[in-house]
Amino acid sequence: MTVTDPHTTATSSADLADPARSAFPPGFAWGAATAAYQIEGAHAEDGRTPSIWDTFSHTPGKVANGDTGDTAVDHYHRFREDVRMMADLGLTSYRFSLSWPRIQPTGRGPAVERGLDFYRALTDELLANGITPAATLYHWDLPQELEDAGGWPQRETAYRFAEYAAIAAEALGDRIGTWITLNEPWCSAYLGYASGVHAPGRTDPGDSLRAAHHLNLGHGLAVGALRAALPATAQVAVSLNLHAVRPHSSHPDDLDAARRIEAVGNRVWTSPIFKGRYDDDLIADTAHLVDWDTLVQPGDLAEISRPLDLLGLNYYNPTLVSSAENAKNLPRHDGHGDSSHSPWPGADDVAFHLAPGEVTAMNWPIDPTGLSDSLIGLHREFGLPLLVTENGAAFEDTVSEDGTVHDPERTAYIKGHLGAVADAITAGADVRGYYCWSLMDNFEWAYGYEKRFGLVHVDYDTLVRTPKTSARWYSEAIRTNSLEHGIAPQ
Ligand code: FCB
Repeated sequence: MTVTDPHTTATSSADLADPARSAFPPGFAWGAATAAYQIEGAHAEDGRTPSIWDTFSHTPGKVANGDTGDTAVDHYHRFREDVRMMADLGLTSYRFSLSWPRIQPTGRGPAVERGLDFYRALTDELLANGITPAATLYHWDLPQELEDAGGWPQRETAYRFAEYAAIAAEALGDRIGTWITLNEPWCSAYLGYASGVHAPGRTDPGDSLRAAHHLNLGHGLAVGALRAALPATAQVAVSLNLHAVRPHSSHPDDLDAARRIEAVGNRVWTSPIFKGRYDDDLIADTAHLVDWDTLVQPGDLAEISRPLDLLGLNYYNPTLVSSAENAKNLPRHDGHGDSSHSPWPGADDVAFHLAPGEVTAMNWPIDPTGLSDSLIGLHREFGLPLLVTENGAAFEDTVSEDGTVHDPERTAYIKGHLGAVADAITAGADVRGYYCWSLMDNFEWAYGYEKRFGLVHVDYDTLVRTPKTSARWYSEAIRTNSLEHGIAPQ
């Protein structure tokens, strides 16, 4: 008979039974994420030219309060201080985006070395502090000249993107090991070209589907360019905001509404990327808007479906839908800004509703089960390693008299969603990391500086950075590799 110490036994079995304590594997990336236009500023320095977001934010009426990213949080000049802040938090990885118009201003031709130098210096600083860089090539800042030539609805833009990917990989591939091609092509295609609430602000559903295909093609061509330039150890990924779609009822029309949104919102990316095809139901739902036979040229799907090492999931909230007919007496919810134009091409018969429960300052429902469901579903369907490349929340943060920003709601949100990641890992999903959106408050697209997502507060008058209490909580989670570490949300 083996004699066991009851205390030891109790402790270790409790550890195993509690996913929050045991689930984060060694090497799990504990990160935070940002994007170039949202933080860098220095919009006209060192050869950078306007992107579609410069043009859009300078167009009256497009962004709340007329805010722009001209200065943003001045990360371009303060990156050393910002990396020090990341090191103080204990981040093991940092996801940021490269600004295309800083590296290749017109979207064509040779690179601007000063633009590349900024990213060389940033990544050197990260590596010197033991923080692994993960770079996104495209977080929505298309060089304006490419938009003037037709933008993403034009096939040529996909080839320009692959050329830029090659330039970036050749210059930075010696120090960046994780590369993400696109961030949320759903937003680029449908908010940019269908609802028009994002740059470039166009409202043509057919063009938004053309943009979707050319974003997919650009992704595939860029994967090829990255593989050609990067060492074999490099990890190549895409970040998708796949919707955790839930039907309002089991009525066949509501189930069909969910199917339609999954097709145009999720499978429009995952089917060509992972299965080398566009699904028949997506094509049928949108055939009146675009001619897929001429849009998708021979060889495109093989290009788009080049193998990836990781899939990045950006998750904020679930999406609750019904048929428009069944929604007559139900409150509606959009959650993607005011526009009389839908961001869902071919889905006019679908109505969106607010999922039950608490909401964030974006009016986005808080429900971590959408994250665990999505991770488990992706693992089962595609089998590849996953990263949560964005997750986080905006709240009405205020600075208290002692200078502290107490944001217990954000801590609870992050803790709940990390718990969902732990659940997914326990259920077998190979989740390799979590990047909180965002490292610090920043330019929140059409909402300007009104919505604060940061772990770190930024005073927009002085640009002083102050970690919120959620940052302290996150830092302790990283240090202990655990969600139950004794620092209460406060
Ligand atoms: C995502 C974007 C990111 C940020 C968050 C709140 O859709 O990728 O830049 O705006 O939403």
